[in-house]
Amino acid sequence: RAEALLDGVRILMTAGPTREPVDPVRFLGNRSSGRMGYALAEALATLGAKVALVTGPTALPSPPVAELVRVESALEMHAAVMGRAPQCDIFIGAAAVADYRPVDPAVRKIKKDAGELTIQLVRNPDILAEVAALRPGPFTVGFAAETDRVIDYARGKLEKKGLDLIAANQVGGERGGFEREDNALTVLWDGGARELPMMSKTRLARELAALIAERYGDRHAA
Ligand code: PMT
Repeated sequence: RAEALLDGVRILMTAGPTREPVDPVRFLGNRSSGRMGYALAEALATLGAKVALVTGPTALPSPPVAELVRVESALEMHAAVMGRAPQCDIFIGAAAVADYRPVDPAVRKIKKDAGELTIQLVRNPDILAEVAALRPGPFTVGFAAETDRVIDYARGKLEKKGLDLIAANQVGGERGGFEREDNALTVLWDGGARELPMMSKTRLARELAALIAERYGDRHAA
């Protein structure tokens, strides 16, 4: 039965952007609206999965998931994920996690005294790579957001991070995947690929959820 494909499977997911504090009133962020991740969380729950969603700030209504954890920064998202990852069967990183954060956020609002301002950044932990390195670890699904050489870079991330599946989308420009209502994905795994052409994120999420269920099922049957 299609609706029970993921019955009882525990899925941990991330979605949305992160906010990296600069001072008490400012942050560095990105253009993720959370739409792709929220639609995927809902589609997976419809297939019977028990979904825990760790989300950065979005303007969307809460999706129907078993657990919703709201965070702001990449470090908070990292802590929320690593505390739950050992108890999940599938991990999916749909969030646009900031790769860098201000090294030392100001305690008070930064004043515009100087003509120039330099903010020093430091690398954030790679949540997806850390989860993929867990032993025993969950079935791990990443996203790749690229402006160019989408398939090359995505295949590289699949191999380098040791993922089971990666969903690559083009971002920036006319048909970019951020913010808008529709998107297209190329899904890659070791020895295979599937094109999911431009469609609404709701429909795309259903197709991706079915593909995740299929690949996860195949691995378990193997
Ligand atoms: O939210 P929407 O407006 O609907 O837009 C959807 C989307 C474009 C944000 C989504 O489809 C998407 O591509 N999400 C991943 C964005 C991203 O950060 O991609 P990346 O190529 O920089 O990162 C690769 C993977 O590593 C991602 O699974 C990401 O969640 C993960 N990552 C990255 C950095 C980091 N420090 N920790 C991570 O876990």
